[in-house]
Amino acid sequence: MTAQVIDGKAFAAEVRGKVAEHVARLKDEHDLVPGLAVVLVGEDPASQVYVRSKGKMTTEVGMKSVEHKLDVNTSEKDLLALIDQLNNDDSINGILVQLPLPKHLDEDLVINSIDPAKDVDGFHISNVGLLGTGQKSMVPCTPLGCLMMLRHHHGSLSGMNAVVIGRSNIVGKPMAQLLLNDSCTVTIAHSRTKDLPDVVRRADIVVAAVGRPEMVSGDWIKEGATVIDVGINRIETDEGKTKLVGDVDYASCAERAGAITPVPGGVGPMTIACLLANTLTSTCRAHGLEEPEGLTA
Ligand code: GUN
Repeated sequence: MTAQVIDGKAFAAEVRGKVAEHVARLKDEHDLVPGLAVVLVGEDPASQVYVRSKGKMTTEVGMKSVEHKLDVNTSEKDLLALIDQLNNDDSINGILVQLPLPKHLDEDLVINSIDPAKDVDGFHISNVGLLGTGQKSMVPCTPLGCLMMLRHHHGSLSGMNAVVIGRSNIVGKPMAQLLLNDSCTVTIAHSRTKDLPDVVRRADIVVAAVGRPEMVSGDWIKEGATVIDVGINRIETDEGKTKLVGDVDYASCAERAGAITPVPGGVGPMTIACLLANTLTSTCRAHGLEEPEGLTA
């Protein structure tokens, strides 16, 4: 079997288009403009690239984008004061504090100081608890993007065997929870899992989120399974150049899978699209308006 390629870039553009349409309606009918605030502490180059890209796409869909770039030595007190100010600002519907934070700042404390209703990353402990109990919450963007692609490809996921490789709070655990909420039989595999290839061979859906370049090999994949690759790893080629690869060995997995996401152009573009979708959802909820269809979990 040669896998169908799930085009995350095209799908993300479609999602952003739906968000933009809904944002235009909010403006026309309610004179509302959703606002997203991104807080960056320090000058981590990768984070700067992400933040720039988020700001650009936020304005492209018609939302207000606010960036707060703080010095690397910013105190916890000052950062918490800024978050408090954003929590109380009615023109801001989403707050994202870019991670990782410099070492002297307590990440859990900072994230849990964001108003859960504006926590468009879905990292606040209240949102984690709401998702875990199947209640309405803000859902982390990368797993939400994976879920949207899986639903788009399969329709119902009910009864499917899903294996999530990786147990991070940002991807692995919420991904497993979302799949469980969609009635999959879910296994979370990780670095201590015994006979990982054998576990993965039972999966109808494989989500790889471990951060190890090309770890998942084609002979681990059940014929016809759907493979979602969350990994973004920069590796050196034989010619001394660098290239981006996922956690999945694409060539061998594509020979056996029914469908597969490429890297780049798969999960990556969906993350920012879902951040915009979450900001829209949070705006609608804040004003008691109907939530956008197909853009939430
Ligand atoms: N750093 C890397 N990915 C993310 C993300 O999804 N959200 C935040 N806040 N920081 C990140």
